[in-house]
Amino acid sequence: MERIAIGADHAGYWLKEEIIRFLQASGYPVEDMGTSGEESVDYPDYAARVARAVTAGQADLGILICGTGIGMSIAANKVPGIRAAVATDSYMARMAREHNDANILCLGGRVLGGGSALEIVQAFLQSGFAGGRHARRVGKIQALEHAGTKDPSSP
Ligand code: RB5
Repeated sequence: MERIAIGADHAGYWLKEEIIRFLQASGYPVEDMGTSGEESVDYPDYAARVARAVTAGQADLGILICGTGIGMSIAANKVPGIRAAVATDSYMARMAREHNDANILCLGGRVLGGGSALEIVQAFLQSGFAGGRHARRVGKIQALEHAGTKDPSSP
């Protein structure tokens, strides 16, 4: 089973705790990278921890939760090798894995209920990258990352 690194800020803390219970009950190895309460913290700090755990190979996949999932995804996507996707339903979560080879799922603790969040997590974990034409496109994303401000499609 995939090893999961999970992190949240204060707005996502409650949902992180629910997801950890669900993952542990389902048999997934989970590494909780904080935060550990509802005191206000800065979401990029937790995005960085989880993203680095994934790129270092310490975890196979990551889950990040803030108020909307947006701040976490913006921050995590700054780490080379990370493809972090916000999902608000199971279809988005499945497509994020199948088409985008996302390695981090971002959720919003202020926009999702616990039940739908767990369905989204399940859809993400039960899907896999489809490859084929999607591999070419993900390759182009990686080329953008390596090109910096240069246009990777021009010589
Ligand atoms: C915290 O108030 C909130 O800004 C944060 O959780 C997140 O939603 C940012 O994207």
